Amino acid sequence: MKRFLTGLQPSGALHIGNYFGALKPFVDQYRSYESFLMVVDYHALTSLKDPAALRENILSATKDYLAAGVDPEQVTLFQQSQVQEHTELAWILECLVTVPFLELSHAYKDKLAKGLEANAGLFNYPMLMAADILLYDTDIVPVGADQRQHVEYAREAAAKFNNTYELLFKEPQGLIQETVATVPGTDGKKMSKSYKNTIPLFGSRDDIAQAVMSIVTDSSGERPEHVYAIHSLFKDAPALDALYEVHRGKYKALKEALIEDVDALVAPMREKRASISDADVVRVLAEGSARAKEKAGAKMQAVRKAIGVVL
Ligand code: AMP
Ligand code: TRP
Repeated sequence: MKRFLTGLQPSGALHIGNYFGALKPFVDQYRSYESFLMVVDYHALTSLKDPAALRENILSATKDYLAAGVDPEQVTLFQQSQVQEHTELAWILECLVTVPFLELSHAYKDKLAKGLEANAGLFNYPMLMAADILLYDTDIVPVGADQRQHVEYAREAAAKFNNTYELLFKEPQGLIQETVATVPGTDGKKMSKSYKNTIPLFGSRDDIAQAVMSIVTDSSGERPEHVYAIHSLFKDAPALDALYEVHRGKYKALKEALIEDVDALVAPMREKRASISDADVVRVLAEGSARAKEKAGAKMQAVRKAIGVVL
């Protein structure tokens, strides 16, 4: 069975763009593979230095995935920082790649352009991610289009290691979710926390209603395009066209119908999420991390031998 692995950033409340772009594709596919899902808390450390917030985000991100349908019996769900082999392998890979090579990172350049501090961790980020992937002989890495270059970095790092020492690492394939269109926000731009145009995934019905009511409508046409665009995630075209025909020009009724449809998706997940305690998360992550560590530990022992530190 092919190995399928991805990392999720513990970075706060999710919106329905994250659901359709990342959670749902993972949940729909992971059972067809031997799967690994890792909370990348050490990657988060490149930008987050508030211990209480980091702890809260790790708990919260794990609950989100569990509530969205990840079954920890069927996927190794683990916490990156509990498997020290990740930072150990990252160091070895960093000694194989050059500074100019890492300077080509779009993600790094974008973050600098946004005024983020250029700490050395941010610069080395692609090698920690390469270690995440390579330690498990991963075949397939499902990621958003913004992560394409990072998967390339992992392939290059594997090739460098294999050429320098011995053939130990598989070169992974990125699985870019091309079919998932960018989910638009309440203003029609890409839904994103930084644009404040989101519909929260685990919000209360009131939160959802408030976000939907704030969708910008253009009074010139008969169909509110931004409402329709978000609605098309929840209903197929014939059902949607019939609904928009019945309520032609009645924006409030259409928004109310959208609130119903969003809430029908969200309510069961919201209930499931509320039933998961912090202690549940701690237990699930400890069990998953122990399973991951078994695999990563064996791989790292082969790496240590290959590089000449085992006497
Ligand atoms: P972010 O926290 O913005 O990096 O989002 C995490 C993941 O959610 C991304 O890798 C995307 O796959 C997905 N995502 C975020 N925003 C959207 C959106 N508006 N439409 C579709 N997918 C999204
Ligand atoms: N860099 C990824 C992101 O920001 C998260 C990540 C870390 C990851 N390690 C990974 C994704 C390994 C896939 C595989 O979304």
